[in-house]
Amino acid sequence: MAGGAVFNVSGAGKEYKGKMTVFVFLTCLVAATGGLIFGYDIGISGGVTSMDNFLLKFFPSVYRQQQKHSRDTNEYCKFNSDLLTLFTSSLYLAALVSSFFAATVTRAFGRKWSMFGGGITFIFGAAINGAAVNVAMLILGRILLGIGVGFANQSVPVYLSEMAPAKLRGMLNIGFQLMITIGILAANLINYWTAQIRGDWGWRVSLGLAAVPGAIIAVGSLLLPDTPNSLIERGYPEAAMAMLRRVRGSDDIQAEYQDLVTASNDSKTVKHPWKNILQRRNRPQLTMAVLIPFFQQFTGINVIMFYAPVLFKTVGFGGQAALMSSVITGLVNALATTVSIFSVDRVGRRALFLEGGAQMLISQIIVGVLIAVKFGVTGAETELSKGYAAMLVIFICLYVSAFAWSWGPLGWLVPSEIFPLEIRPAGQSINVSVNMLFTFIIAEAFLSMLCHLKFGLFFFFAGWVVIMTIFIALFLPETKNVPIEEMSFVWKKHWFWGKFIPDDALRARRGDARSPK
Ligand code: BGC
Repeated sequence: MAGGAVFNVSGAGKEYKGKMTVFVFLTCLVAATGGLIFGYDIGISGGVTSMDNFLLKFFPSVYRQQQKHSRDTNEYCKFNSDLLTLFTSSLYLAALVSSFFAATVTRAFGRKWSMFGGGITFIFGAAINGAAVNVAMLILGRILLGIGVGFANQSVPVYLSEMAPAKLRGMLNIGFQLMITIGILAANLINYWTAQIRGDWGWRVSLGLAAVPGAIIAVGSLLLPDTPNSLIERGYPEAAMAMLRRVRGSDDIQAEYQDLVTASNDSKTVKHPWKNILQRRNRPQLTMAVLIPFFQQFTGINVIMFYAPVLFKTVGFGGQAALMSSVITGLVNALATTVSIFSVDRVGRRALFLEGGAQMLISQIIVGVLIAVKFGVTGAETELSKGYAAMLVIFICLYVSAFAWSWGPLGWLVPSEIFPLEIRPAGQSINVSVNMLFTFIIAEAFLSMLCHLKFGLFFFFAGWVVIMTIFIALFLPETKNVPIEEMSFVWKKHWFWGKFIPDDALRARRGDARSPK
């Protein structure tokens, strides 16, 4: 069985049975809706914080500063406020902490209960935010939303990677990122609409409607079956085998089943995953779980996602035009994600990373130059011709689309597919928490970075894109079509990481060490 197969990195070696069945498609679709809550959050706060009524009620000093067009207020600085930033970023800190707790729940009770808990907490957060009468309620609501996101982001990518057959893993996993972008777009559209509400309650609708994606994943998770991996791990071998047959749509699942059992046995011998993950043999994966989410945030994407309306307002678009432009970037983001869905298991992860990096770099430089030419250092000029504004939006869209088929989806896919089972939950926690930490840092720093670096902000992120693209070219091996349990062979063959992988790691993975032929 497994031991006899010759592995080939190009994917032509050992293969498990597995095709796209209606069952696997539907379960992955429902699970992926967990991405909606993360996306809705990302998209909603930027729009709300650019609504006058909202600012007047909770952040009056920011409102006054924004209204004051006196010469001493630099345009780049008019939204700079610590409290306003805390509103946006508190969520990410809560998500960071909760993802560690989610790892335990996910492992002990199964993936679906983490998704369910995430959805329920999120609904409470939405209710408190929609009813907020002071800043404390706003921040408390954001913290509950963050806990919901921490649980969903911890459990959903693992669930998808475990359910998917190897050859479709990229496609099915990216369903999560697609839902993130749909959540962002829905939030942008809702903000565009609520900003036109005459009373001072439009922002309440925006914040309260977060309960809808929360309810979708909470109810959806109750319909989901557990993954075969989780069933084996929790002591239900027969149910696991039946589930594997069902998701693969085939009776020929012995080889894969045996590998899951082997991986689960390995997993049980590891008492301290956090210590284990630090071992030299896991250095390549650990490096990726830290650097990939870090780099993803240093593409600068969330400057656009959180603050597009603020940014567009800063460079002189009117209020409605600014919200409309963020609807456009939201649409481009969602559409461009589908490019990766259909190409990631064909052209591979590396090709998308490299093309995306090059395209982001070029568009960021052009956006920086366009803003510099028009606004210089003082940001004094606020009139923008239609053509100039359109050019700016086009290059921002080129940048967003490149992110949407590279670092966006791959930032969640790659870290979820490179770890051996025994430390996959720990690896996923690291990925989520590093992602949230730097999302938090960027959210915290953006308004003051814009104020100090001005148009140079775009060059700053362009510099990081150069570094991360070179990093991928040199250090990330291709993982497309490779069964998760065979991933150590990929590292072993890599010119740099090969020396970190001892031979016994390969034997154990292949099942030779434990299962008699
Ligand atoms: C990132 C988010 C980002 C989103 C944009 C996700 O993969 O983790 O930080 O806002 O993509 O679509």
